[in-house]
Amino acid sequence: AKITYITKAGESLVYEATSGSLMELAVKNKVPGIDGDCGGVCSCATCHVHVAPAYYEKLGAPSEIEADMLEFDDNVNEYSRLCCQIPVTDAVDGITVAVAN
Ligand code: FES
Repeated sequence: AKITYITKAGESLVYEATSGSLMELAVKNKVPGIDGDCGGVCSCATCHVHVAPAYYEKLGAPSEIEADMLEFDDNVNEYSRLCCQIPVTDAVDGITVAVAN
């Protein structure tokens, strides 16, 4: 799947992947602002992104734990997700996510 990250500086970074999560792909490629401190277990919120609206719906609702984490983070909006909880699958091919913090 093709994944696009928009950095805080407004740069578009595009990567291809077939497995893992959007957080793992970002960390591997050193996308600024996505640190993945907790290793993807939904307890740090350093992988907070804003998902492009067209894709947000497709992802399904965040889990309760993810929603709770997001409640306490900065710059939350209706398209906020923790991208460690978004697996790389064909369903997210073409997705764009903006780094939130
Ligand atoms: Fe920690 Fe996503 S990597 S919440």
